[in-house]
Amino acid sequence: MGQPPDRHLALLLLLLLWGQRSNPEVRRPSCDRCDRRLACNCSCGGWTCVPTVTDRALTLDLSFNYITAVTGDDLTGHGALGSLSLHGNKVSAIHPSAFDPLWSLEELDLSDNQLSVLDHRWFLRLGALRELNLLHNPYSRLGSGAVFRPLVRLRRLRFGGPALEELKRGDLSGVTELEELTVDANNLTRYEAGALAYVWPLDRVTLRLRGPFLGNTSLASAVLGDVSYPETQLVLEDLNVMRNRSAQPFRETASRRVRKITFRNFSVSDEAIVDLLMVMNGTFWLNGTLPQFQWERAKRTDHKSIDEFFMRNVVVLKVFHFASFLELSFLLHYPSKVSIINSQVFVMPCLTSRLLVNLQYLDLSDNLLTDLTMMETLCNGDGTLKGLRALNVSGNALKSLSTMSQQVAKLSKLTHLDISRNGYSFMPMGCTWPSTLRYLNISRAKLTSITPCLPVTLEVLDLSYNDLNRFTVPLPALRELHLSGNKLLRLPPGGRFPNLQTLTVQSNTLNTFGPADLRGYKRLQDLQAGQNKFVCSCDFVHFLRSALRGVGDVHLTDGAESYVCDSPLHLQGEPVGRVRLSVVACHRVLFVSVSCGAALLVGVLACVLLWRLHAFWYLKMMWAWLRAKRSSRRRRRDGEASEQLLSYDAFVSYSERDAGWVENFLVPELEEPRDNDEGATTHRAPRPLTLCLHKRDFLPGHWIVDNIMSAMERSRRTVFVLSENFVLSDWCRYELDFSHFKLFDGSAGGEAAILVLLEPLSKEDVPKRFCKLRKLMSSNTYLEWPQREEGRAEFWRRLRCAVGGGEDDPLPRDPSGLLTLCR
Ligand SMILES: *[C@@H]1O[C@H](CO)[C@@H](O)[C@H](O)[C@H]1NC(C)=O
Ligand SMILES: *[C@@H]1O[C@H](CO)[C@@H](O)[C@H](O)[C@H]1NC(C)=O
Ligand SMILES: *[C@@H]1O[C@H](CO)[C@@H](O)[C@H](O)[C@H]1NC(C)=O
Ligand SMILES: *[C@@H]1O[C@H](CO)[C@@H](O)[C@H](O)[C@H]1NC(C)=O
Ligand SMILES: *[C@@H]1O[C@H](CO)[C@@H](O)[C@H](O)[C@H]1NC(C)=O
Ligand SMILES: *[C@@H]1O[C@H](CO)[C@@H](O)[C@H](O)[C@H]1NC(C)=O
Ligand SMILES: *[C@@H]1O[C@H](CO)[C@@H](O)[C@H](O)[C@H]1NC(C)=O
Ligand SMILES: *[C@@H]1O[C@H](CO)[C@@H](O)[C@H](O)[C@H]1NC(C)=O
Ligand SMILES: *[C@@H]1O[C@H](CO)[C@@H](O)[C@H](O)[C@H]1NC(C)=O
Repeated sequence: MGQPPDRHLALLLLLLLWGQRSNPEVRRPSCDRCDRRLACNCSCGGWTCVPTVTDRALTLDLSFNYITAVTGDDLTGHGALGSLSLHGNKVSAIHPSAFDPLWSLEELDLSDNQLSVLDHRWFLRLGALRELNLLHNPYSRLGSGAVFRPLVRLRRLRFGGPALEELKRGDLSGVTELEELTVDANNLTRYEAGALAYVWPLDRVTLRLRGPFLGNTSLASAVLGDVSYPETQLVLEDLNVMRNRSAQPFRETASRRVRKITFRNFSVSDEAIVDLLMVMNGTFWLNGTLPQFQWERAKRTDHKSIDEFFMRNVVVLKVFHFASFLELSFLLHYPSKVSIINSQVFVMPCLTSRLLVNLQYLDLSDNLLTDLTMMETLCNGDGTLKGLRALNVSGNALKSLSTMSQQVAKLSKLTHLDISRNGYSFMPMGCTWPSTLRYLNISRAKLTSITPCLPVTLEVLDLSYNDLNRFTVPLPALRELHLSGNKLLRLPPGGRFPNLQTLTVQSNTLNTFGPADLRGYKRLQDLQAGQNKFVCSCDFVHFLRSALRGVGDVHLTDGAESYVCDSPLHLQGEPVGRVRLSVVACHRVLFVSVSCGAALLVGVLACVLLWRLHAFWYLKMMWAWLRAKRSSRRRRRDGEASEQLLSYDAFVSYSERDAGWVENFLVPELEEPRDNDEGATTHRAPRPLTLCLHKRDFLPGHWIVDNIMSAMERSRRTVFVLSENFVLSDWCRYELDFSHFKLFDGSAGGEAAILVLLEPLSKEDVPKRFCKLRKLMSSNTYLEWPQREEGRAEFWRRLRCAVGGGEDDPLPRDPSGLLTLCR
């Protein structure tokens, strides 16, 4: 046994591969569009053959693909499949045992395919099938033998198509208890009586029998007869009943006491309708809508039970052959409700109207009525239709409101009038309406203004979707007012509608509304005012949010989403209910006043603080100093001229309180010097000095600072009379400051300050902010006014020397300390 074991393995693999290759499963594409409930939707997948899906699939939808055949293996293993759809493929061949594995299949849809022959072997194992659809395949008959016999549980069956020509007895044998049967037999030419019988009890039978109805009515009768049971609903589609003969098959249904027949896509002539009603002979009464005509059983031969006549979307093909129901006159006495909607009615002749003696409700909406034909319909307003309570001519071509009001004026029971969706553009000043009118609908017209034409008896008025921009007519009985879709800028004044409960003003041009607007409405409960261009002011937002929460009597019933801000820009599109406005925006006045108040307070505090810190004084000083500097510069520019300006020897700076000393001692002593008593010979009388005193020499009318400055400019020296009072005086401080400025100003070389201390004052007594004075006091020596008589002569001498010295002896002067020179 020399073969190594992997040889065996290779052989096995090869075999396996070959085996797989030969397996057709490999060539089939797979579809993995299955959801968690194992429903596989392989619809519209472009498959040309049945794709593989998981064996556990419960639903398989293969509709709208290009599958042409179902082979014997395609569905193997799908024992769990409950529903299979092959609708809309090109299947022309199905292997006889293709469906055999589907033993739990309940629904099978093979409609819209190319099956030209039905094979009974397909269904042999489908005992569980409940629903089978074979519509629209090109088979002309159901095949040889009973195809459906194995389908013992079948409940819904659909078959037929344009190609179906023949139905034979036995075709449906074995099918005994259907709930729904649909047979598309428009082209049926051969029918063996009884072919569709015995499939009862049926809930619903849908038949397409256009060909038989047109060609072989006895065939149609036979088909109808076989499926007509009292409990069965008969649906007839695509019918064309034009001649009296076409109506004959219904005699069969009438005799079989069918309760309900529904027509879909039904073309009928007015003659045929009469025939139909005759044939039915009161068996049915009219209910339902076209194209779904529905007749229901009434008491036999009792047309009186026809209460309502309703037609909608009826297309009148040959208008000029239309006999306006006059042939139905035997019926027209009875109905109290007639609706002929969207059926191209352009007139209902007065003769017809006169027949409708029991009419209470007439709906001719969405037709082609004009003012003229309306006059014919209402017999020129003579009060025919005297029982009429509601008239609906919405959606016609009416234009004159006064014509309309005249036409209905004599309808003494009319309460409802719907003339909406017409061409009314003008409202006359006065109209005559029946006194009973309660409901008036003129919505979707083109009215631009309203007048007292509106009857005061109205309880419901709909004027929505016009072009109104105001609404002022008082309507005391009104309960409902609809004004949506107009151009109102504000709510109508509530005082005119004391009974109003409902008001709709959506889609207008309202910017805002509020409690003040609503106060007038005493009974308003329901307001709809959304879809307007709201300006989201604080008041409005606040009001609306509380209204939306249900605060107050008025309820906004159109939902919070309808209320959207249009401005301001940053809130555009924002639902009002969600807008949050800041406090600043909402209480602007309060905010401004509070902030102004705060600013004022801060200002006052700052002022107090500054005052406490003498900031004003510093500022004044600074300003004066700048002026001084400027004027000194100007003077310097003028050059020599300034020398000539000097007209005083000294400017005396003193406090007003020290005026006594200055006037009594200083001035006499310096300006009018006496000869010295002791030695007149040795001492000649000193030269009188000229002093500048503010009291005496300041120019009246000039600003004091200017005066001070010019005085100092024009004086050679400045004498400061220092005392407690001096320190307290503002002006003295200025003077001191100017002089100091001059003192250090290089160009003012010849000038200097002289300090006279009137009372003992140490540097420490001077407040800190007079730093200049303190500096002067520390750097300059000063003359001290002696309290005793003895020292005074010396004092005066030294002072005189200091003030006038410069003139007497041309000694060089130290600008900072002149006093020292006179020691
Ligand atoms: C399957 O998918 C198609 C589109 O691919 C869709 O139209 C159809 O409704 C789906 N069917 C079901 C049952 O979900
Ligand atoms: C009815 O059959 C004829 C011929 O048998 C065919 O021409 C016609 O198209 C069929 N009608 C319909 C609606 O398919
Ligand atoms: C009408 O149909 C019946 C029943 O199928 C048949 O016996 C009869 O020959 C048909 N008539 C015509 C004119 O085709
Ligand atoms: C209505 O019936 C006509 C034949 O009478 C048919 O041509 C048309 O396709 C049908 N329409 C619908 C929507 O079924
Ligand atoms: C059908 O109408 C014709 C005249 O158009 C009439 O001679 C015939 O008797 C009517 N048939 C029936 C069954 O009413
Ligand atoms: C309806 O049928 C009854 C008999 O059942 C008959 O007396 C009556 O005249 C018929 N009415 C019409 C309008 O054909
Ligand atoms: C008329 O038919 C409609 C639809 O089938 C049904 O809902 C309604 O109850 C019927 N009206 C009467 C009065 O039977
Ligand atoms: C009148 O007819 C229109 C359209 O069919 C309908 O919307 C309206 O409610 C009707 N009016 C009355 C009062 O029934
Ligand atoms: C008024 O008529 C319009 C259009 O026919 C309709 O939509 C509206 O509901 C009617 N108004 C009232 C209050 O019935």
